[in-house]
Amino acid sequence: MSKQLILALSKGRILDETLPLLSDAGIEPLEALGSSRKLLFDTNLDHVKLVVIRAVDVPTYVQLGAADLGVAGKDVLLEHGAEGFYEPLDLEIARCRLMTAGVSGTQASHARRRVATKFVNVARRYYAEQGIQAEVVKLYGAMELAPLMNLADEIVDIVDTGNTLRANGMEPRELIEEISTRLVVNKASMTMKHQLLKPLIERLQSAVVARR
Ligand code: ADP
Ligand code: PRP
Ligand code: MG
Repeated sequence: MSKQLILALSKGRILDETLPLLSDAGIEPLEALGSSRKLLFDTNLDHVKLVVIRAVDVPTYVQLGAADLGVAGKDVLLEHGAEGFYEPLDLEIARCRLMTAGVSGTQASHARRRVATKFVNVARRYYAEQGIQAEVVKLYGAMELAPLMNLADEIVDIVDTGNTLRANGMEPRELIEEISTRLVVNKASMTMKHQLLKPLIERLQSAVVARR
């Protein structure tokens, strides 16, 4: 078992950018990841297997050692908390920003705000740091709808081009964190499987640097 590495990949947008990076690092799945209902894949490297899971589940897999390494957005890592894993490498893909946003041309009251987000931990921490009282409401998607429906005064969400905000009559306000995709490694694996992990992390690092 310790002769093998399980790498957990985030499904969706991040996966689309991760596969070419893995390929640059000399890691290729032996079959197309999208074309079956399979979730566990062999690669050209005998000792490396891939699992493809929901982005929000990647930190859990890596923290508990079900996967030795993982690829996840910094937003997801900030929300989950960093216990149980190291974050040795910024993969420099799926760049975006975690921001507050509100209805264009309006100003949220400084005293007390209702905030809709799927990043409840990040939002609570951020508003507390700002000394703003915030009631944080958990949503699972379409945060941009919340202020329009009077569900919230502000949202905390991912912003890239700003098109989604604009299309819904909203504007970005404060930057909370610059986001990119990170490589995370289980702490016990880093010690127990160092011989296997070190060359893999180095290959990935070279692939990242070569793209700059
Ligand atoms: P989900 O179903 O969880 O929203 P996505 O495929 O949209 O999955 O990918 C989510 C991850 O991709 C986020 O955790 C974030 O790191 C990154 N991301 C999300 N939206 C964007 C965006 N518009 N541009 C770039 N990266 C993004
Ligand atoms: C993400 C994010 C924002 C949007 C930001 O949504 O949640 O809604 O991208 O990008 P923009 O600033 O370029 O418009 P996504 O497309 O992942 O849809 P989702 O709600 O299904 O996650
Ligand atoms: Mg998304």
